[in-house]
Amino acid sequence: MKFRIIFAGCGDIAYRWLDHITKRDDCEIIAIVEKNPARAENYQARYNFKCPIYNSLEDAIAKEQGNLIIDLTYVTVHHDIVTTALRAGYNVLGEKPMGFTVDQVNDMLRTVDETGKRYIVMQNRRYIEQVKKIRALVTSGIMGAPVYLAGEIFVCADMASIRNQFKYPQLQDNNIHSFDLARYLVDGTPTSVHYHSFNPKGSMYTGDAAGDAVFEFDNGCVYSFRGYNGSEGCYTSWDNVWRVCCELGTVVWDGAGDAYYEYTSERGGIFKGIPYQSGVIKRPEVVRDQHDGALEEMFNALKTGKPAGTECKDNIKSIAMVLASVKSIEENRKIDIIFDDKYPYLTLK
Ligand SMILES: NC(=O)c1ccc[n+]([C@@H]2O[C@H](COP(=O)([O-])OP(=O)(O)OC[C@H]3O[C@@H](n4cnc5c(N)ncnc54)[C@H](O)[C@@H]3O)[C@@H](O)[C@H]2O)c1
Repeated sequence: MKFRIIFAGCGDIAYRWLDHITKRDDCEIIAIVEKNPARAENYQARYNFKCPIYNSLEDAIAKEQGNLIIDLTYVTVHHDIVTTALRAGYNVLGEKPMGFTVDQVNDMLRTVDETGKRYIVMQNRRYIEQVKKIRALVTSGIMGAPVYLAGEIFVCADMASIRNQFKYPQLQDNNIHSFDLARYLVDGTPTSVHYHSFNPKGSMYTGDAAGDAVFEFDNGCVYSFRGYNGSEGCYTSWDNVWRVCCELGTVVWDGAGDAYYEYTSERGGIFKGIPYQSGVIKRPEVVRDQHDGALEEMFNALKTGKPAGTECKDNIKSIAMVLASVKSIEENRKIDIIFDDKYPYLTLK
């Protein structure tokens, strides 16, 4: 099977996709769609593409015969690109976050159901080796069920994009990485959130660049998130710093190096002199680009017909955490998150 790709959006992230795609012998970029011609020409020169550049996806679809659209525009545009592509009979692979409003994401899933086409969303953090191993340990049950997950991200981010101007720039763009990882690490589905949002004094952002949140998951685990996109110095990893407390043990990971864990066979055993058993999840010597693992799975899913881990029907559970957080901020209360397998797929109460 050969993927004939219409490639929409030539921003900062595009090279990560193109570095992977141009090494594959089952992919061909047949057209670029970009509102900013200089950006498109820059990528065309960098990868020596000879394909045409279009200003709109509709024009590209009208003139080209492809079978896959890649959407690397930003979150406010994803709904239009993805639904236009699906209705034209294309499968879509696209960057996070799926959409900007509850109506948009519900409509995107409805369009997937109506057209029978696929839409898979990039959540590259899941493909970090350490993350996969921590999830395997947590879900093995050896430490009992996960009960309390703490994650934090403190970085100094200039996204050099319209994304800087969002009302909640961290929450509405990058936090989905943290939230998706949280779900994945403890194998939980979110049921509620209470989010406190603020813009720290001296922040380089106009909108709120920081927040503290408490999410509840269906498996009883509570996830405490905190983060600031404009912190100065002593950054955390972009992959967050994590502490996963289970009934009988804990895993800690700084998001970069080795992860450590301790567990006991008996609750409170430490007070009876039973020592903790401990272990290390080593950081691999060679760390693969997260996008490579994700893209391999996405293309494989399209070839085999098998679901990808980040299929839109799964990913709505991550974008729901963002959209529910926005509602929590604006209504200053805890929000319940409800999923259905038919339209409306997501309801916030
Ligand atoms: N997975 C990751 O680790 C990761 C990292 C960075 C960004 N991202 C995501 O990737 C997406 C793109 O990020 P970026 O940093 O490249 O953004 P960017 O702002 O640099 O680029 C987006 C590009 O889309 C173009 N565009 C906008 N509307 C368009 C339209 N209707 N048709 C065609 N082109 C259009 C813009 O002109 C711009 O060049 C965002 O959703 C972002 O959240 C993901």
